[in-house]
This record gives sequence, structure tokens and C-alpha cells, in this order.
Amino acid sequence: MNAWMRYPSKSRSALIVLIMVILTIWILVQTGAIKARFRVKRTGISEKVVSLPEPSLKGNMSVEEAIYRRRSIRDYRQEPLSIKELSQLLWAAQGITFQKYGFRSAPSAGATYPLELYISVKEGGVSGLQAGIYHYSPFDHTIELVKKGDFSEELTRAALDQPWVRKAAICIIIAANFERTTSVYGERGVRYVYLEAGHVGQNIYLQATALNLGTVAIGAFHDDWVQSIVGCSEHPIYLFPVGRRW
Ligand SMILES: Cc1cc2nc3c(=O)[nH]c(=O)nc-3n(C[C@H](O)[C@H](O)[C@H](O)COP(=O)(O)O)c2cc1C
Repeated sequence: MNAWMRYPSKSRSALIVLIMVILTIWILVQTGAIKARFRVKRTGISEKVVSLPEPSLKGNMSVEEAIYRRRSIRDYRQEPLSIKELSQLLWAAQGITFQKYGFRSAPSAGATYPLELYISVKEGGVSGLQAGIYHYSPFDHTIELVKKGDFSEELTRAALDQPWVRKAAICIIIAANFERTTSVYGERGVRYVYLEAGHVGQNIYLQATALNLGTVAIGAFHDDWVQSIVGCSEHPIYLFPVGRRW
């Protein structure tokens, strides 16, 4: 009898499971899937990191009412959003809701989290924030200024002159790093990334509705132009202008 066979069959099975778990973790680390889940991505003007207020876990509107009331809103009052409202929207879109594993408000295939959020804040768009492009870090619930200036006009032109982009106080740009998901799922990962953006978009819609804000999903824009305005390496796939509704 060889040494392996001397172990009771239960111990052998346990050992095989353990080896498989270790192998799976090793593969996820190598492919970047785990790194993406816990990484704080800092690329911008590092002294310009803004801590966002804690998101609220109780609102004034039920999820049923928010689903019922959700509409695409394209006309906004020229009033700033508060930093609390911005915090709530970003948390609903991609906030971490289970610290232990870094799981987020929206589901992600294999928890590969391919999406990055950027926010274009126009002049006077958010009380207390200077105009610019910010990147959201779910890991510490902060935003970092990556580009100073009001890009709402250029973003409007890149979005085929849709005037609601100009009118909105902010525009959330959902950008994708496809490689994070395709490195695990191959070509099928491309589909998963777009599905995931849909989940994030619906969370933005419902949270905006519950806060009595207006938003609209925008799929019609020049990808490369928006990417150069934002200055990101990821691919912009969805825009959500948000403003205070009438
Ligand atoms: C993938 C996608 C892309 C869209 N792109 C645009 C767009 O570029 N501009 C726009 O004004 N609305 C856009 N919309 C919003 C739709 O026009 C809107 O959802 C539809 O008219 C139904 O209205 P409702 O959202 O109020 O139910 C888009 C919606 C989806 C799901």
C-alpha cells in the first residue's frame, strides 16, 4: 500500500478539496480578479482625495415605490447636489456592502469587478467640490480629483449634443476594464461586463429616484472622445447625467 492510500478516504477527500481551494485562489490572484477586488486605484492629483459621508441604509421611499416612480428625466434645475447625495449615488452604484469579501451593491460575474466609475462635476455642480473629473474608490468610499475643470460642455458634444448632459449637475461615467472579466471567462466575459453595467445603471436610477433626483441612461456617445475627456484607460460604456428634478 503506498503512503497516500494509508490515509483514511475522508482525509484524502479533505486534502483534495483543500488543494483545489488553494489552486483556485492562486488562479484568481494571478489573473488579477482578487487584486481588482481589494485594490485602491489612485492615478490622479493625490492631495485631492475627498472622503465621502457615510451612505444611508434607510431612505424615505420603498424599493417598490422607487421602481414604480423611476423614469428617465432629462430636465434639471440649475442647483447643486450635496456631497451626501453624491455619496449615496456612488455607494448605490458600486459601494462595498460586504467588507469581508469586498462584495458590492451590484453583482459581478466571479466578483471580478471590471467597472470603474468616474464623475464629471460641472462648475457649481456639487456644493463644496471644485469642478473636474473624479474617480470613485469603493474601497475607502472616496473620490479623487483626476482632472480639474468643467468638462460638461465637451461631454455634451461627445454625447451627440444631448442637452441633458450639459444641464446635469454631474455625469457619472461607467467605464470598463474588460480584461478583469475576460481573463477569467474568456470572450463570454465581454457579455458579463455589459450585463453588469446594466445592474449598476439600474441602481443609479433607483437611488436617484429615491433621492428625488433625475437621471437618464445614455448609450449614444463617441467612446474614444469620452475616454479622452475623462483621461482614463478603461472603456466608457454608459453615462448617467444626474440633476435636481423640477
Ligand atoms: C442601453 C440604453 C441606452 C440609452 N441611451 C439613451 C440616450 O443616449 N439618450 C437618451 O436620452 N436616453 C437613452 N436611454 C433612455 C431610454 O430612452 C429610456 O429608458 C426609454 O425611453 C424609456 O423611458 P423610461 O426610462 O422613462 O422608462 C437609453 C436607455 C438604455 C437602456
